[in-house]
Amino acid sequence: MPSIVIVGAQWGDEGKGKIIDYLAGRANVVVRAQGGNNAGHTVIVEDKKYAFHLLPSGVLYNDKLNIIGNGVVFDPEGFLKEIKVLEDQGIDTSSVKIDERVHVIFPYHKRLDALQEEARGEDQIGTTKKGIGPCYMDKIERSGIRLGEMLDQEEFKSRLYPQVERKNQIIEKIYDGEGFNPDEIYEDYCRYADALRKYVTDTTVLVYDALKDNKKVLFEGAQGTLLDIDLGTYPYVTSSHPTSGGFCIGSGVGPNMLEEIIGIVKAYTTRVGRGPFPTEEDNETGDLIRKKGNEFGTTTGRPRRCGWFDGVMVKYTSRINGLTSISLMLLDVLSGFDKIKMCVGYEYNGEVLQNFPSSLKVLSQCKPIYKELDGWQEDISQAQSFEELPENTRRYIEAIEEYTGLPVSIVSVGPKRSQTIIRGKMF
Ligand code: IMP
Repeated sequence: MPSIVIVGAQWGDEGKGKIIDYLAGRANVVVRAQGGNNAGHTVIVEDKKYAFHLLPSGVLYNDKLNIIGNGVVFDPEGFLKEIKVLEDQGIDTSSVKIDERVHVIFPYHKRLDALQEEARGEDQIGTTKKGIGPCYMDKIERSGIRLGEMLDQEEFKSRLYPQVERKNQIIEKIYDGEGFNPDEIYEDYCRYADALRKYVTDTTVLVYDALKDNKKVLFEGAQGTLLDIDLGTYPYVTSSHPTSGGFCIGSGVGPNMLEEIIGIVKAYTTRVGRGPFPTEEDNETGDLIRKKGNEFGTTTGRPRRCGWFDGVMVKYTSRINGLTSISLMLLDVLSGFDKIKMCVGYEYNGEVLQNFPSSLKVLSQCKPIYKELDGWQEDISQAQSFEELPENTRRYIEAIEEYTGLPVSIVSVGPKRSQTIIRGKMF
């Protein structure tokens, strides 16, 4: 049962979309299992740029099964918009299947997301305001509405109206906001239900059968490990499990069915939103990385915070995901620096920490201990093999391998599919 799991091994935006797209070409099935349209994957194919939020990236190939697993929170409006963009470009989307268990995002989730953020004031999380957290809240509270229920008009009505009434109370009485008319939501969502019906099924069966039939299954992670609700930098996290374990829960497969687990990391580090970031370069170096790496959010357009590669963090994300290798992205962005730094420990209270701390207070006081390497001036964007890379670039890759104890199985030297060095067998 050949399967590859792709997880972001930093704070998201590691360039997963490119690798997922690359591997999707060899896979039979592509599965998303958590998050929603807070994600943003940019894929460039033949100079055309595609931005996905909710659709699995295999949708650009017409012979794959593309699955939105039960662990996803699902915005019907956002989904149908993405489908339309692709269909307008002549891309067949009939291969997309959505699990009937996905929890549906409603307009009140989005409004609550914004109102809760506003109420947090200085302590804002910096959410994407797509309603992700409030939708997962309902799921955990056991009051959410699942897509299967939304397809049944009567059941949907009986679930939606009391829910809108409850949410209106919260919106109006706690946040002094404007509530919703349930009739309007009901009408809109019944329309969406009609358009969605053909995509909805029990996808846990499809994934299981594919694995049993020895089909190649690619599990497509969204966000990044440090945004995991349990293992991330809480509370500055998302509300799902963007870790390898999240795929078991979010697509209904047993852990023994996950084979390769590849952690996607940038050759440096970025972060969107608030929270401590030990290797942040809030200065000209960070500005240069941002400019060269075009580090602005796909979903929100926000500038990303930038800094050096943090080995302590990647060792942690490797451990909790069970990574089998690393895919090193955006290495070309580091061309031109005289010196390149890599964090190999944190100094905290006169001690050296080798393990990523769970306390944000501790993390915010950690000073990075750097290993400094010589940079390279050459343009590496056309390199086709490890051997073709300049010596200092190879040394940097080897330093990452040595510190993290993981092989770097993929090196990306530019945004195009062709600018990818694969070291070893993938599928
Ligand atoms: P939410 O997922 O919209 O609730 O946002 C919670 C946190 O996760 C915020 O810091 C977001 O910026 C971050 N986040 C959510 N999705 C992504 C993503 O795809 N990439 C990077 N950060 C993300």
